[in-house]
Amino acid sequence: MTDLRPKQGKSVFIRTYGCQMNVYDSERMADLLKPIGYEMASAPDDADLVILNTCHIREKAAEKVYSDLGRLKKAKARRAEAGGDMTIAVAGCVAQAEGAEISARAPVVDMVIGPQAYHRLPELLARDARSRGAILETDFAVEEKFDRLAAREADGPAAFITVQEGCDKFCTFCVVPYTRGAEVSRSVDAVVGEARMLAAQGVREITLLGQNVNAWAGAAPAGDKSGAKNGNWGLGELCRHLAKIDGIERIRFTTSHPRDMDDGLIAALGEEQKLMPYLHLPVQSGADDVLKAMNRGHTADHYVRLIEKIRAARPDIAISGDFIVGFPGETTEAFEETLALVETIKYASAYSFKYSRRPGTPGAAMRKQVAEVEKDDRLARLQALLERQRVAFNSAQIGQILPVLFEKPGRHPGQLIGRSPYLQSVHAKAPDSMIGSIAPVRIEGVTPNALAGALNDEGEDAA
Ligand code: SAH
Ligand code: SF4
Ligand code: F3S
Repeated sequence: MTDLRPKQGKSVFIRTYGCQMNVYDSERMADLLKPIGYEMASAPDDADLVILNTCHIREKAAEKVYSDLGRLKKAKARRAEAGGDMTIAVAGCVAQAEGAEISARAPVVDMVIGPQAYHRLPELLARDARSRGAILETDFAVEEKFDRLAAREADGPAAFITVQEGCDKFCTFCVVPYTRGAEVSRSVDAVVGEARMLAAQGVREITLLGQNVNAWAGAAPAGDKSGAKNGNWGLGELCRHLAKIDGIERIRFTTSHPRDMDDGLIAALGEEQKLMPYLHLPVQSGADDVLKAMNRGHTADHYVRLIEKIRAARPDIAISGDFIVGFPGETTEAFEETLALVETIKYASAYSFKYSRRPGTPGAAMRKQVAEVEKDDRLARLQALLERQRVAFNSAQIGQILPVLFEKPGRHPGQLIGRSPYLQSVHAKAPDSMIGSIAPVRIEGVTPNALAGALNDEGEDAA
């Protein structure tokens, strides 16, 4: 039976929706709460503080928050009956987009905290204890936030580091420029400091995060202006610099925008072996009129030529993408152009979505919205094609020996799960002591979501 009363100290439960930047933010919230006595709770019902770190990108994601709040209302009442309490906070992009409307619609919410203000959580909690009344904190205090995200604890051999936030692109379907604010880059020192701290705790792989990660720019350090333009480094130089940190063996970055894919970054992908051969480069559509209406700032041809250039620099690179079907005005012919682009590129993996009308974005007000059944049909066709390409890419690895960074135990005893350079999940029989090591694995088969292999190390293999 669950003991509903607060135990010694306090506990927090954080539920994360949405993108990897939210995953990073949730981890940082936990790091901020630890010094003020919060341990992680394993279920919301056991927690003194529940944080929903939310996503606003599509309607479904945003609505999930309200159904969760309905359940939390009951859990809070149960705790109150047992003499306990529960503080409920809504963080993330729904918090930013809907603000005070959230507490109006769900009065059970005690705090609404935007993604650029969550570093103030400790102060807000102190205030909450004094004055029960919904708190709204949605400043775009991103620079202040970056300054406060110092200490952090590694959780396994692979870690995210946010290097850039926000978006100035204003694609007409997207809420991100409104929920995360303008593009801001973290300084070289801050990123290097975080990477060193992680490396010292055994992290071997870092993934640099940003809504437009390749728009990252920063003043080059005084002693190293190599590759700098007007004194500034781009993401390629930052990656080369991070590659010099002892212990960091692999570097990834996501999500990139085709418009910001500069020659410096392409050259780094070709030359820096610690940069992994995997690139998530969303195109959204293969039809120029749709791309124009989306305000993407590139054509289909530009994208195809860009991929050719990247493949010339790093021939084995795995390409991944995002697609939206049924954007307003997308005709059947336009959709066929997306299929044709996919056939040309050959994706290793991809995410595809039905267009979701987001309040306040230009797309929501556009005429010629596409019927839901039509969107369903297009999504099914696109996903079938992308799935065939994914299986083809994975199957091509059978018989290859790939270096795998083992991250955690697998589902079966004696098995570990890790990642290939191409970001595929790989499972193989290996001892727990190999978590955190990069070892050669002979790929023997493909399962629906992973590759199956065996250690290619004669000594360990037999185990
Ligand atoms: N910054 C990244 C992606 C951010 S959102 C980029 O520019 O690529 C992640 C993905 O969600 C987008 O690439 C897009 O494919 C999808 N998306 C965003 N808004 C959407 C909407 N209104 N409806 C459906 N999909 C959407
Ligand atoms: Fe959204 Fe476009 Fe910005 Fe990506 S580039 S976050 S899709 S507005
Ligand atoms: Fe969602 Fe915000 Fe990320 S809207 S996708 S959580 S930036």
